[in-house]
This record gives sequence, C-alpha cells and structure tokens, in this order.
Amino acid sequence: MSEDRPETRIVKAGRRAQWTQGIVNPPVWRASTILFDSVAAMRAANPPEDGTLHYGRNGTPTQWSLAEALTELEPGAAGTKTFPSGVAAIAVALLSVLKPGDELLMVDSAYAPTRGFCDDVLARLGITTRYYDPLASGGDLFGDKTRAIFMESPGSLSFEVQDVPGLCAAAKKRGVVTLLDNTWATPLFFPAMAAGVDLAILACTKYISGHSDLMLGSVTATAAHWDALCKTSRAFGQHVGPDDAYLAARGLRTLAVRLRQHEASALKIARWLAEQPQIARVLHPALADCTGHEFWVRDFSGASGLFSFVLNGGGDAARARLVDGLKHFGIGYSWGGYESLALPVDPARLRTATTRVQEGPMVRLHIGLEDADDLIADLAAGLAAYA
Ligand SMILES: Cc1ncc(COP(=O)(O)O)c(C=O)c1O
Repeated sequence: MSEDRPETRIVKAGRRAQWTQGIVNPPVWRASTILFDSVAAMRAANPPEDGTLHYGRNGTPTQWSLAEALTELEPGAAGTKTFPSGVAAIAVALLSVLKPGDELLMVDSAYAPTRGFCDDVLARLGITTRYYDPLASGGDLFGDKTRAIFMESPGSLSFEVQDVPGLCAAAKKRGVVTLLDNTWATPLFFPAMAAGVDLAILACTKYISGHSDLMLGSVTATAAHWDALCKTSRAFGQHVGPDDAYLAARGLRTLAVRLRQHEASALKIARWLAEQPQIARVLHPALADCTGHEFWVRDFSGASGLFSFVLNGGGDAARARLVDGLKHFGIGYSWGGYESLALPVDPARLRTATTRVQEGPMVRLHIGLEDADDLIADLAAGLAAYA
C-alpha cells in the first residue's frame, strides 16, 4: 500500500504495467473463453485473483485494474470485488457473512432496496433483520444472535450521520461483522477500513463512475472477510462487463476534483436554501442542525453533492409542481453524475424503528457541476412560485 495521498493514489492505482501494456488507461479486454497453449498450461494456471487469465467470468485486467484501484483507496483492505450494481454488491456482501439463524442489525435509514433484500431474501433464508436507530452508539444494541451490523452514513434520503467508528468498536468487542454503504462519502471523504469497517460497499453507479452512464457496485473487504466474499461472489456468478469496468475506472481518475466541486456547490446551495422562508429545514451533514452533524465533523473530510430539504407547508401536488418547474434539475433516480437532479422523497414511510424524520414535503437534490448561481436562480424562481 502506497504512502501517497489519496489524490495521488487515485491517479496511479490499478495501472499495473502488465495490464496497461504502456498505454495510460487499462484497456477493455473482452473475453469469455481464454485460450491456453496446452492442457498442462491450462492446469497450471493460477486463480485469476492472482492475476492469471482463466475464464471470462472471473474478469480480465480491465476488471482487476478497477478492483485494485478501489482497494488502494482503502488502506487496510485485502481486496475488492466488483458487481453489476450497487444492490448486487450489498446482497453478496450480506450473504458472505450471514447464515440461517443469524440476526442482522440494519440501520433504519437504509436505502429502500437494501431493506427489501433483508425483508424478502434474508427472511426466506431464516436470517432475522432488526432495524435500529441511526443514532445508536452500540452498547446494548447487540443480541446473542447478532452476527452483523449494516450501516449507511449518512442515510441517502434523510442524511443522519452515524457514529461508524463507535459502532465498529462496539461490534468488534462482540465479534459482530461490520458493513457500511459508503456511497455518499466514497473512500475519499470517509476511509471506511480505517474506521473499523470490515466490508465497505460502494454503488459505483454514483460518484465513482460519475457520468450517469453505467451500473456497477463494489465491496472492499479486510483480510478476515476476503475469502468468504470471493467465494460468495463466485457462487452467484457475479460479473461486471469490461466496458462498464473501463468507464468506471476512467471516471474514478477525476473523482477527487469532481467531489470537491460537488461539495462546494452543494454547500453554497444548502446554506442559501436554509435562509429561504419557504424552507422548514435543510438536511445536509455539514450543516450544524443535521442529525449526527458532530460525527460528520469528527470523521469526514468532506461532503458530497447529495442532500434534502423540507418545505414549509404545501403538499405533494405543490411539491411536484416545484420539481417539474426547475429547468436545470433533471427528475430521475440515482445521483453522483455531473448533472443536477431533484426528486420528491418520503423517507418517513420506510421507517419501522424510528420516527425522527422531519414532517413536511421533502425534496432531495443532487448538485451537479453546473454553475451554483444558475442553480440557485432556478431554485429561487421555483420557491417564489411555491410561496
Ligand atoms: C445509498 C445507495 N446505496 C446503494 C444504491 C444502489 O446502487 P445501484 O443503483 O447501483 O444498485 C443506491 C442507489 O441509488 C444508493 O443511493
């Protein structure tokens, strides 16, 4: 593991000479069959994780290079597996640590399909999910059957920041495995392994790729969990197409500069919104009244471009008109690309363990790379009409 700073590592990571053959970007190697000179050579082939070509499902240097780059962003990690989506990464990570009879602790602010996987697939496998308050600090959270705790910090609709190091320390004492959906911060703003996380998950669909043109997920694991992760991923036949892996690796190289711009523009807009009379509250981890703000201050080195605001009065129809009327904000799921997005969201409907979510019509914004003042002017016109 290199001692270089993250911005330097992100440029160099995964670009092994034998994979790039002298060009800058590791190229697209498309393959199903990989040919050997002889039967003996085929039998002698090492497992692909050691860098040897074997069979297309196990990837080619295109996927290995991306995985190695993501590993290098998490000091303390043993390796990274890539997946066809963020949800696939979450599913395999969970299945790699859980077995029938286990209990999983799942944060109540988790991304809805993560909850769906627990409530459906894990339940059918005899694995119990207990939802917990995102502000819990460990202590009496763990039961006799608790095998793993899943965190998502901040929650991607309501933005509560969790005490990830505290929860990890408490989990370690009980032998409980820790998993984190780190998509919002990425390892640049929150190195998960250093905080004690065993399995760090990214929906690379968002900031890693950064251009809203592919689906991809990743799980980076410590040595203790690496073999089980590889085995489970292989058993489920997980594979990422080389074109998507190439694009994600290409996007990754500019992650640091993109994130700093998303951060600056989002903060400017969040602070402006907080002063508008039509806004009841802005949910942004870097604002002092955000739930868990103190953990953001202590643990994060930046804030990305995704946050929510709650409108003062009005209902769903008025909120829809506001979103429809914005000219610089697209209406659509996902986030992390270069473009701004607005989405009506209702996180309170998903909760089963906590009711702390602010009342009122909520809108989630992803602040893209447009000029922040143009975005503010757009929001100002929308809010004037809303009033
Ligand atoms: C926080 C978070 N985690 C995971 C995912 C899932 O990623 P994907 O859409 O690549 O399956 C998303 C997608 O919106 C997300 O917002």
